[in-house]
Amino acid sequence: MYITLDGVSRQYGSVWAIDRVTMGIARNEFVSLLGPSGSGKTTLLRIIAGLERPSQGRVLIDGVDVTELPPHKRGVAMVFQEFLLFPHRTVWENLAFPLRMLKLPAAEIEERVRWVVGILSLGGLEKRYPNQLSGGQQQRVALGRGLVGRPKALLLDEPLANLDRELRQEMEVEIRRHQTALGIPFIYVTHNQEEALSMSDRIAVVRRGRIEDFAARTEIYDRPKTAFIAQFVGRSNRFEGTADAGGNRLATRCGARLALPAPGLTPGSPALAFIKNEKLRLDAAGTGAASGPNRIACTVKDVILRGAYADYILAFGERELNASRPRSERSFLAGEPVLASFAPGDIDVFDEKGEQAA
Ligand SMILES: Nc1ncnc2c1ncn2[C@@H]1O[C@H](COP(=O)(O)OP(=O)(O)OP(=O)(O)O)[C@@H](O)[C@H]1O
Ligand SMILES: [Mg+2]
Repeated sequence: MYITLDGVSRQYGSVWAIDRVTMGIARNEFVSLLGPSGSGKTTLLRIIAGLERPSQGRVLIDGVDVTELPPHKRGVAMVFQEFLLFPHRTVWENLAFPLRMLKLPAAEIEERVRWVVGILSLGGLEKRYPNQLSGGQQQRVALGRGLVGRPKALLLDEPLANLDRELRQEMEVEIRRHQTALGIPFIYVTHNQEEALSMSDRIAVVRRGRIEDFAARTEIYDRPKTAFIAQFVGRSNRFEGTADAGGNRLATRCGARLALPAPGLTPGSPALAFIKNEKLRLDAAGTGAASGPNRIACTVKDVILRGAYADYILAFGERELNASRPRSERSFLAGEPVLASFAPGDIDVFDEKGEQAA
């Protein structure tokens, strides 16, 4: 592994902001640290950068133990949410700044700045000041300032949080392309699951200073390992219930009956199940058997058009269910009775502790 965290912890007072994190990141990998506010993402990134010392554990980069090394000797660069551009310096000078700090010869500074101006499409903007740039352009300059020193790894802390949605989605594609072209690891901190899912090879879900799971993005989304991940990644319907005698059915509190893909629950024990909104299939009421496990007769309460798909809010007794269907399918109107159904394999089930059960 190109970057290794080995039993890294960080204590602030009596709080363990990072708690025994061990993980490895490959040379050409795009990894996201995804987690809610306060989970420890920034602290972990700062420990890798050398801006923060771990209370315990080691950080290795390219086979070298850098735990005791200051940031500028680690060969990694960091890009922040606030961009942190110098307001009174031009784009060119902002980009040249890290190289001047390294006291590189003028010709090399010139060459490297021209290189980042090229790859980041900043040509023509070199003489402007940051306040004469759009948000996306400022973000590119910040990215360029990280890349100009040809780092061994780039660490990014919510760099797109200040951009509007459309620009953010464009930048996601762009950032991923730079990572692929440069062939260095990018470690990307975000609380935004869409960003993590769109760019990453692997996602580390951070919760209370620990890595809840570190796996391929499809794995994190399609086969969440814990109830926390099922709840945090994607949008889903949550069911609480009790396992039946065979351990393969769940009688939920709201009255729905779920047939699970395999027995795995302790009979009679409490359990949690999640079904992603897009896994709820909708049919007109009256088509096929109305009752039975994994079929829920409900009424459309609201329809929210999203463009390519529609979100349905469904009334089922006292509770609401959420379904998301492509607009190419038959649509339903508010007030219509519908049958929501799903396959056993689309149910993510967890025991009381939130651990995978089936
Ligand atoms: N310098 C510090 N002194 C004391 N506590 C700190 C310090 N820095 C961070 N913490 C605490 O450590 C925990 C993790 O903070 P961190 O900034 O890493 O979270 P985060 O996941 O980046 O959150 P956010 O998404 O809000 O940026 C929090 O409980 C925070 O209050
Ligand atoms: Mg943070």
